[in-house]
Amino acid sequence: MKHFLDIHKTQPGELRRIIDTAKLVKDARAGRPKGALDDEQPLKDHMVALIFEKPSTRTRVSFDVGVRQMGGQTMVLSGTDMQLGHGETIADTARVLSRYVDLIMMRTFEEDTLLEMAEYATVPVINGLTNRTHPCQIMADILTFEEHNGPIAGKKVVWTGDGNNVFASFAHAATQFDFDLVFSGPEPLDPEEALAGRYTIERDPAKAVDGADLVVTDTWVSMHDPQSARERRHNQLRGYQVNKALMDQAKPDALFMHCLPAHRDDEATSEVMDGPNSVIFDEAENRLHAQKAIMRWCLEG
Ligand code: CP
Ligand code: NVA
Repeated sequence: MKHFLDIHKTQPGELRRIIDTAKLVKDARAGRPKGALDDEQPLKDHMVALIFEKPSTRTRVSFDVGVRQMGGQTMVLSGTDMQLGHGETIADTARVLSRYVDLIMMRTFEEDTLLEMAEYATVPVINGLTNRTHPCQIMADILTFEEHNGPIAGKKVVWTGDGNNVFASFAHAATQFDFDLVFSGPEPLDPEEALAGRYTIERDPAKAVDGADLVVTDTWVSMHDPQSARERRHNQLRGYQVNKALMDQAKPDALFMHCLPAHRDDEATSEVMDGPNSVIFDEAENRLHAQKAIMRWCLEG
């Protein structure tokens, strides 16, 4: 049984196979050749549980649509509505859900919650974001980069801002897909030391983006961060905003990415987000295609 828990826990060859499938799945949807892969209905008679302990637009809708396009059905469950939010253990929840459903996607706070779910579930579990990582997002981002600018291996990717969960999955991907990753943010918001990924640090964002093929940022305050940290973080991160002046330091064909949701004109200006180098809505669309490939991979045994 295969879980999709994190990018560094999946072999590079398997990750590449998922990306290749995602490209085929996307092409098929666009009619090249028409509908071929979805016609197989690989999720026919399958029920998928989508568990959310945090808000979501993209993850929720893209998984729901993806399952339906592949012939399956979904059940969207909020953590607070389940007994999970009222003292039932994760392990018992995992064992019970496995008797009803064929696949579990979970968005939660603590990584340990996801890991316990995966340990006790007898069906595949997919990580839909934890406080520490967001692997489905980065699979969509790799797909997006390669559609626009070719193979990501050997390319320079620069992250500005908070060393958060999305950054962590980029760091894992840097090792597995063999690209160079630079983190540019203030020291107090450095990625966690125990992070099993590969990156270098350049505090000066203008120097960091020199020669970049891809510039990425994310919200300055994540869902798991205390709102009381908001003002401090804004002060720490203001100098790391992605604006036109910063993008001009990168390669002319450098892409701009943001997983969304964004706080426009905080971490990135609308000029950049809506500018010619931005691929933010392709990233959002590619969540659908990448996750369909991930679900196929999980269920292929
Ligand atoms: N990028 C992302 O995961 O978005 P949602 O929080 O809307 O799911
Ligand atoms: N870093 C953000 C990503 C949201 C998709 C968060 O965890 O809130």
